[in-house]
Amino acid sequence: MDKILIRGGKRLRGEVNISSAKNSVLPLIAATLLSGDKCIIDNAPMLDDVFVINDLLRSINADVKIDEKLQRVTIDTSNINRCEPNGELVRKMRASFLIMGPMISRFGGFKLSLPGGCNIGTRPIDLHLKGFNALGVKVNIGHGYVEAYADRLKGDKVYLDFPSVGATENIMMAAVMAEGETIIENAAEEPEIEDLGNFLNSMGANITGAGSGNIHIYGVRNLKGTTYKPIYDRIEAGTFMAAAIATRSKIKINGIKEEHLKPIIAKLAEAGVYIKVDGESLIIDADRKLKAIDIKTMPYPGFPTDMQSQMAAVLSTVEGTSIITETIFENRFMYASEMKRMGANIKIDGRSAIIEGVPKLTGAEVRATDLRAGAALIIEGLSAEGETQVLDIYHVDRGYVSIEEKLKKLGADIERVKQ
Ligand code: UD1
Repeated sequence: MDKILIRGGKRLRGEVNISSAKNSVLPLIAATLLSGDKCIIDNAPMLDDVFVINDLLRSINADVKIDEKLQRVTIDTSNINRCEPNGELVRKMRASFLIMGPMISRFGGFKLSLPGGCNIGTRPIDLHLKGFNALGVKVNIGHGYVEAYADRLKGDKVYLDFPSVGATENIMMAAVMAEGETIIENAAEEPEIEDLGNFLNSMGANITGAGSGNIHIYGVRNLKGTTYKPIYDRIEAGTFMAAAIATRSKIKINGIKEEHLKPIIAKLAEAGVYIKVDGESLIIDADRKLKAIDIKTMPYPGFPTDMQSQMAAVLSTVEGTSIITETIFENRFMYASEMKRMGANIKIDGRSAIIEGVPKLTGAEVRATDLRAGAALIIEGLSAEGETQVLDIYHVDRGYVSIEEKLKKLGADIERVKQ
């Protein structure tokens, strides 16, 4: 398994380009199942999770072509003849479950091995299934599988007890060709959901309100192919912002949408970081005295859970006491014991991490425990004195395009060691 080697303590400088959002591209690829026509996704990030979902589609006979140079994924699902995708691929990644909605919509059923993914909590799928039930789907769970079928899908009102991102997306995709109107109340409002709504509408769907708490889906008879460019990855942008802060650097980040980054920008400003947005770019300057802050993760437009590990790395370098409270996933502090090996002062108390900034972090051998924890350990390594080795980097490869190449271009002393 590859590892990343960092000789820390160098300031970053220059510019970095952000890729398209992993969390947009995965549902978009799932949504291509909804039409028998060809769909093209441009500017697709070449990530392990993207390869997994494409392989999943191939396992049911979709024809998927990936042009890595053009960053283009072309998917033709006209020959699909199986509704039971490869179980090993499903278990590799929780986002595999995003094919449930499209499969029930186009083929009237599926059989799926129960999912896997990041080890950050229990992550049930009850809300997805509750939505399907409301549309007339019968679901059975047993022997490690979830099976569903529906003779006919009929639109209805679905109230989500919690604004789950995946459940909102799955219900949107299930409802898109249902008879009549479906309303999702207390829907997740993440920008990736608005992107999915735009993608589906470009296929001929009739969806309004995606990206707000109330989504209206008026069923259409069928969907056609499309060519689409997804939104930028706000979490990747946030991760590079965190890297700049931990190294007290000034860098330019290209490929952002200010509105999507507001929850992150507002928090960083509170810590004393200077940020100037100019169109689809921003300049971040952290070469100044910073303040400890408190963060609570919340559904969008709150502070994203996908940025909390990276913020723990940052706040370990900021004098004073910061508290991070995680309200979305119950098991997202696994990085703390690894960060402590580098001299960080972090105590976990239930759902909170209490972080006492230290004057100096020191390089160590640490292990990525999940995707964002891996990114956070890289950030910590950039700011630490001496050499850091981040093991199990495959977690990071799930969600970051060439992270070490992008950081190297910014002046970091970083390399991947192939193993
Ligand atoms: C998506 C993102 C992930 C991000 C998360 C929260 C993708 C591919 N992944 O994950 O990066 O961290 O949103 O912003 O887009 N829950 C239930 N029942 C359900 C579904 C969810 O209780 O049926 C709970 C989960 O256990 C969790 C919370 O709701 O505690 C949020 O999960 P959800 O919003 O569904 O996250 P994902 O879609 O899995």
